[in-house]
Amino acid sequence: MSPKSKVQWLKSKIENRKLKAKVGVVCLFAAFLITACVQTQSKRNEFNISESKSYEASLYRQNCAICHGQEANGKEIDGKLIPSLRYGEAATKSEEEIYQQIKEGKLPMPSFKNQLTEEEIRKMVRFVRRDLQGKE
Ligand code: HEC
Repeated sequence: MSPKSKVQWLKSKIENRKLKAKVGVVCLFAAFLITACVQTQSKRNEFNISESKSYEASLYRQNCAICHGQEANGKEIDGKLIPSLRYGEAATKSEEEIYQQIKEGKLPMPSFKNQLTEEEIRKMVRFVRRDLQGKE
């Protein structure tokens, strides 16, 4: 190999390495983005109420699970469907609507204003929106 073509050969080898490094960085970034997306998805869908030690989760188990199901995925009682609190209509409700629903009830759901304190009702609204629906 002449010295000139050797220099050329080395140059092309270096270029090749640079390109590989660039492709590597792009792939890593893409992988990172995909993982991030999958994680946000599963956080929303997989908050485990029965295993959670939070105060809200225990309030849920005591007051709401009997109708909305252990994991808030909804339930059928005597042929009537009790809605999920994670998906569907519940996920379209505003903070205020969820608050009203828990405080005042809406037949056949009872009002909880004599069972829960104002603070507990607020906590449950946050629980439904943040833990179950993955909002803010
Ligand atoms: C006796 C059964 C029962 C209990 C106990 C109960 N719910 Fe409900 N809940 C219902 C029914 C039935 C509906 C649907 C009402 C309707 O059709 O408008 C509902 C609707 C809701 C909605 C609105 C969802 C939607 O799709 O419109 C929210 C939010 C909610 N309940 C939260 C709770 C929380 C939080 C608790 C516990 C503090 C609770 N519920 C306890 C029966 C119950």
